[in-house]
Amino acid sequence: MLAIDGVAKAFGGLRVLVDVSFAVGRGETLGLIGPNGAGKTTLFNVITGFLSPDRGGVRFAGTDIVGMKPDQRVRAGLVRTFQKSMVFPELSARENIALAARARRGAGYRWRSSASVTAEADGAAEALLGRARLGHRADEKVGNLSYGDQRIVDVLISLAMAPKLLLLDEPTAGLARQEAERLVELVRNHDDEVAIILIAHDLDIVFGACDRVAVLDLGRLIAIDTPAGIRAHAGAQAAYLGTLAEAS
Ligand SMILES: Nc1ncnc2c1ncn2[C@@H]1O[C@H](COP(=O)(O)OP(=O)(O)OP(=O)(O)O)[C@@H](O)[C@H]1O
Ligand SMILES: [Mg+2]
Repeated sequence: MLAIDGVAKAFGGLRVLVDVSFAVGRGETLGLIGPNGAGKTTLFNVITGFLSPDRGGVRFAGTDIVGMKPDQRVRAGLVRTFQKSMVFPELSARENIALAARARRGAGYRWRSSASVTAEADGAAEALLGRARLGHRADEKVGNLSYGDQRIVDVLISLAMAPKLLLLDEPTAGLARQEAERLVELVRNHDDEVAIILIAHDLDIVFGACDRVAVLDLGRLIAIDTPAGIRAHAGAQAAYLGTLAEAS
């Protein structure tokens, strides 16, 4: 689904990504971990087209996408969430999600579109909220929802865009363990075909939810393996100062 080949990115003299290569298969959930400033968000920015790599290739579903604009990538099924939430707090949960569903169908962020597009988008929003057990909150302004429910709405917005590859940048930050597990389960159970890359600092969450885990350290991919393999990996352990060994 995704193939990264020798990607490099520097800001001025700061080398933030150094020769990063890996691939993600259809339906695979890959965890992306690494200390603060390791380059995780920068890698997402390169994959989604918000930044151009200085070097290297990015292929999505078999197509070279370097040079493709972010909105074209979204319509092709390459969807991300942001480390900082992008919801419209004054709109209801249903409206936020329906807007995303419409944007995916090419209707853009316009209020006025054909009745069929509107009905379809509202139906998709309704279904997603129901699956997240938030149907009873559909008409509440997102700004009035609890922090945890707002993070769920973030994820539902990205699912409404019908991703083939979903990039989640710390969706569980600030959530209690149970809330974090609920959010990750929601994404994983959505569609077996969707590939996911999950950035999170909570190693229990990452090791519990991911098929494989990639470790970035100072812009270098120092390991990519199963959770068990990463726990046993000396370099990954060093990057985390032993905390890997403690994660269950
Ligand atoms: N637009 C930019 N201009 C200059 N430097 C940047 C820019 N974006 C990121 N950086 C720097 O690149 C490095 C990697 O940042 P990045 O945000 O990718 O890290 P991260 O792994 O996502 O960290 P965190 O876990 O804290 O979110 C940091 O040193 C950061 O300050
Ligand atoms: Mg980041």
